[in-house]
Amino acid sequence: MEKILIKNIKNLGGILEDVQGPLRGQDFGSFQMISDAFLAIEDGRIAAYGSMSDLAGIVDWNDLKVIDAEGKSVMPAFCDSHTHIVFAATREEEFVDRIKGLTYEEIGKKGGGILNSARKLSKMSEDELFESAYRRLELVRSLGTGAIEIKSGYGLSVDAELKMLRVIKRLKEASKMTIKSTFLGAHAFPEEYKENKEAYVDLIINEMLPQIVSEGLADYIDVFCERNYFTADQLERILKAGVAAGLKPKIHVNQFSVMGGVKIGVDNGAVSVDHLEELSDDDIQALKESSTIATALPSCSFFLNIPFSPVKKMVENNIAVALASDYNPGSTPSGNLQFVASLACIKMRLTPHEALNAITINGACAMELENELGSITLGKKANIILTKEIPTLNYIPYSFGENCVEETLIF
Ligand code: NIG
Ligand code: FE
Repeated sequence: MEKILIKNIKNLGGILEDVQGPLRGQDFGSFQMISDAFLAIEDGRIAAYGSMSDLAGIVDWNDLKVIDAEGKSVMPAFCDSHTHIVFAATREEEFVDRIKGLTYEEIGKKGGGILNSARKLSKMSEDELFESAYRRLELVRSLGTGAIEIKSGYGLSVDAELKMLRVIKRLKEASKMTIKSTFLGAHAFPEEYKENKEAYVDLIINEMLPQIVSEGLADYIDVFCERNYFTADQLERILKAGVAAGLKPKIHVNQFSVMGGVKIGVDNGAVSVDHLEELSDDDIQALKESSTIATALPSCSFFLNIPFSPVKKMVENNIAVALASDYNPGSTPSGNLQFVASLACIKMRLTPHEALNAITINGACAMELENELGSITLGKKANIILTKEIPTLNYIPYSFGENCVEETLIF
């Protein structure tokens, strides 16, 4: 039985006993901490924690590996509930096009964007995709991430979607990180279906979905509901088929336009509805009476120069809010959740405590991992961040652009 004691922790943050789903309303801003603390880990789980003054008697010192944190802090590892880290190539050429004045939507319309990534991915082997995605996992781990959701959606054919999802399955096996997998065949219409979009929806429902489910390759189903992409009706058809096949929805909605997708997601039991840069009163109404989590992606807003999701308003309406990176080659070439927290504070006016909750416990809830991860809770997996020597945990969002993480421990 492996036993680890971390002692002299400057601030142990994110303590939460009695987890009852995502933090919302008043509770969203409560981030419990103990200063001058210890944390004991047994077999990869949190066995005890408390104040250094209470350490004697609690911990059995036999065969114990001791880490002296001296001036460093500890908090739960980040839970990134929305990413697209399996991809073939980065897209700097589109970055330049946008600087010169084209919008993300215009680039998509002329065959760039998601279709550009799909063309590149079709030529890449499963092994190469695996290697590059594994390197991205290591990169985000060095920035504090301990659990992650990964989507398909750059395949857009039966073979290539299966290839992506098999890569995600291999990542689950190879990495200690907890990984959830999402089928996003409905990410864009392939060129050859431009004139017959319903046929592509049929392909998703009748060909892709059954194979994916029979191989156990996905935990969730996703659709990009947006003008020029999938309509509200297509969203509904695909979600119903996914749910009937046993997959819960986690969907892309309201990035550029309000199309009714939020309510369709909620009505179909979506675990989360993501993006929400645009939000109507009806959307707020639908979310407010539901257990669906609203996931905002501030680094996507930052990179595309589009509005930031009005999360403050959602919090005031008692809606559960999570934050995620959206790490992908087109709209967010970064998986840095410390920067996401900075943007949430600076651009969305969340407090540092709210931002930290949104990338830990609420992110865990957005992947249905709240019983295992996302907080310092007795019995939970001890996936934690050991920070560098920083004055407070609020310093993480405050010192934007800095990597405050010394090590992410994952069990
Ligand atoms: O969440 N908006 C849709 N999908 C991704 C971007 C995909 C891409 O541009 O490659 C997103 O932003
Ligand atoms: Fe996304």
